[in-house]
Amino acid sequence: MEVSQVIKMKRAVREFSDEPIPEEQLAQVINAGRRAQSAKNRQAWHFIVVRDREILAELSQLGRFAKQLAGAAAAIVILTPDPAERWSIMFDAGQAAAYMQLTAWDLGIGSCPVTLYEPERARDLLGFPADLHARAVLSLGYPEDSSTLTATPHAGGRKSLSEVSSYERWGS
Ligand SMILES: Cc1cc2nc3c(=O)[nH]c(=O)nc-3n(C[C@H](O)[C@H](O)[C@H](O)COP(=O)(O)O)c2cc1C
Repeated sequence: MEVSQVIKMKRAVREFSDEPIPEEQLAQVINAGRRAQSAKNRQAWHFIVVRDREILAELSQLGRFAKQLAGAAAAIVILTPDPAERWSIMFDAGQAAAYMQLTAWDLGIGSCPVTLYEPERARDLLGFPADLHARAVLSLGYPEDSSTLTATPHAGGRKSLSEVSSYERWGS
């Protein structure tokens, strides 16, 4: 699929079929995160792929809007340095996430970012070191409703171009 088409069609998917994601497709997805740009090319991220149903269920308890993780085929926990250290940390993580989500969509895999409200419980669960932090997870899986992948973008799903952009100066 053309990149422009993936960008146009991709939507948040929160309901997944039971079909597991093949190892090589998961590898393709995290490799897209690895390819993302980052400030000073620091690549200060680490991605933990979770497929274990019990761990997915535990993760689903760590956010206010995280329930979907319990039904996902996999999750990718995005670890970063402390986001308070510099603004670019979450900018970089967001780009890695977007690359992974767009690649997943191209493979027919739906996804959705999930905010972790209890990052220290994520540390206890996954055992990552003190200098890394987990603020976001991607849920992943084949959409329960496969027509989601080809559905027309819903009207009003995004603000208009004129609302979110200007040329040369603010408001023009
Ligand atoms: C930083 C970030 C955090 C998000 N956190 C959650 C979340 O905790 N739970 C959830 O269900 N969706 C979460 N989302 C998904 C957004 O709600 C979704 O991307 C947005 O509504 C647009 O959806 P659409 O592309 O289907 O129109 C998050 C998205 C971003 C970018």
